[in-house]
Amino acid sequence: MDKLRIKNRLEIEKMKRSGKAAATVLKRIGEAIAPGVSTADLERISRDTIAEVNATSSFLGYQPPEHQPYPATICTSINDVVIHGIPDKGHVLKAGDIIGIDTAVSIDGYHGDNAYTFAVGDISPVAERLLDATRNSLYDAIAEAKPGNRIGDISFKLQNGAESHGFSVLQSFAGHGIGRNLHEAPEVPCMGVAGRGLRLRPGMVLAIETMVNIGLPDVQMSPDGWTITTVDGSLSALFEHTVAILSDGPEILTGSALWEI
Ligand code: MF3
Ligand code: CO
Repeated sequence: MDKLRIKNRLEIEKMKRSGKAAATVLKRIGEAIAPGVSTADLERISRDTIAEVNATSSFLGYQPPEHQPYPATICTSINDVVIHGIPDKGHVLKAGDIIGIDTAVSIDGYHGDNAYTFAVGDISPVAERLLDATRNSLYDAIAEAKPGNRIGDISFKLQNGAESHGFSVLQSFAGHGIGRNLHEAPEVPCMGVAGRGLRLRPGMVLAIETMVNIGLPDVQMSPDGWTITTVDGSLSALFEHTVAILSDGPEILTGSALWEI
């Protein structure tokens, strides 16, 4: 993870462009999600859209320590897959599934990162509750992303919004600062104590993300070296926005019509 970098006005203007592009990719994929569609089909749409908006994938070839380079431009995480599911033509959506799509792109050297969990056809009432609670907790957390507050104020809202529904948040993965690098300091955990942690300042840009399991918080790595699943097989959802902290409060850089309720 790169160090914390405060962005100036010009840099935030640039990040609005990459944020918008990342949101466009996510929205296009969302429009294509339906029973019978494979996650390889979604990868194709992602690549076409990234080219159309003149962006570059932040994920393709991305290689954290002790990982193989990531082979795709999106993560496609179905049902008990929490994060980092790899698109595959053998993974075909069916009614009742939920699928988390995570995508980041860069334009002019700056990244934008977002994720959304979609319902495929009709889903169970508890899956509906999971998606609503997770998305709402993200918005409650974003509202805390203002100067003077602390990272813990964001993390607490993510944790509380999930746990108040009897769900659990992941301990082992977190949101992050974002800019010229996909991952910059600070870490933004999905669990924490209000009033604790680094103080937020204008010019910080954070990818605030939350991963919520219906059951236990425990997760495991699959043999492919990327895919993370719940140990108890329960459903998991993720949502993420790139958010700039401005002097008058948070600005979501990855907003789009997709997120309107
Ligand atoms: N979007 C994830 C994150 O926010 C990163 C996915 S890693 C990749 O940190 F390898 F899939 F690219
Ligand atoms: Co991210």
